[in-house]
Amino acid sequence: AQPPLRSPAEWTIPFGAALRDGPLADEPDYRAAIVKHCRQVVGEGGLKWFDLRPSRERFVFDQADKQLNFATGNGLELRGHTLVWYGAMPDWTKTIASAAEAERELVGHIETVMGRYRGRIKSWDVINEPIPDDPASRSDIRPSIWQQRLGESHIALALRAAARTDPAAKLIINEYDIEFVGDRFRRKRDAMLRLVRDLKLRNVPLHGIGLQGHLRGDLAIDREGLSAFVSEMRALGLEVLVTELDVVDDRLPAPPELRDMLVAARAYEFLQAIHAAARPTAVLTWGITDKYSWVPLWFKRGDGQPNRPLPLDEAYRPKPLMRVLEHF
Ligand code: XIL
Repeated sequence: AQPPLRSPAEWTIPFGAALRDGPLADEPDYRAAIVKHCRQVVGEGGLKWFDLRPSRERFVFDQADKQLNFATGNGLELRGHTLVWYGAMPDWTKTIASAAEAERELVGHIETVMGRYRGRIKSWDVINEPIPDDPASRSDIRPSIWQQRLGESHIALALRAAARTDPAAKLIINEYDIEFVGDRFRRKRDAMLRLVRDLKLRNVPLHGIGLQGHLRGDLAIDREGLSAFVSEMRALGLEVLVTELDVVDDRLPAPPELRDMLVAARAYEFLQAIHAAARPTAVLTWGITDKYSWVPLWFKRGDGQPNRPLPLDEAYRPKPLMRVLEHF
């Protein structure tokens, strides 16, 4: 028999998971699993532009409000995801034509959304995925309407607006593909480092870096590179969070039990390399159960077998990945 799982309160690092609204509304087992294992949550959606801003004039807060009510009612913190991202943008934002208009829309959005949740959402992914997949240079920033209209200054603009709106909130820049072996990933770390140093140098408010941690079966963790990156962040006075951990690609042709071990081993290497440099201030997985994950849609296996990216299986039984999370 395995030892009982620790309760979330005993964990040294606040553990959490991303919420999906369907099962949150109608599946008691799902809600119970979240409450049992988590100290914090984040919406898979709900606070993205696409969900909040069906039209320029209207804000729709229903989804986010429901998540916050669930969190508050169960003693969990809700993280905010996300204010500035190239993705999940409603079509009307393509018509933002000038720098002045972009500034007005971006700052107005941050003031309205963060203002509504001031004091209740204490940690925000203000900036999501600012670095391109294969940065051409250390100053390469991913294209978006904000980057097109305002250039890189949109990042400082957003962080300053966020700090003005809720001075007590933790302001985070969130990014993926920071952790793997390979030139492309080293360039991504370098570009991130350049961006963050530049912001700190100019006294732009920024409190931490979120490592999404969408790990892959087919890519090795660059432990040295990752530890060095985390050390650099600490040296700049920043916290490091793990915000979206899962193993998105486990296309290994192996039986489920073996794949679960390999998934856990990947996460172990990743968390170990972070810990070698600093303790992350939060660890969240992007979902709690294999039953509800973005992975099967985006990284389908070719063999018809279900993906197994998350800490609980589809029947809410803890997998080896859950043991790894508890270990830290
Ligand atoms: C994903 C959600 O999980 C999906 O349900 C949605 O269709 C697309 O977005 N990085 C991020 C998250 O920052 O917002 C993404 O979430 C997953 C990758």
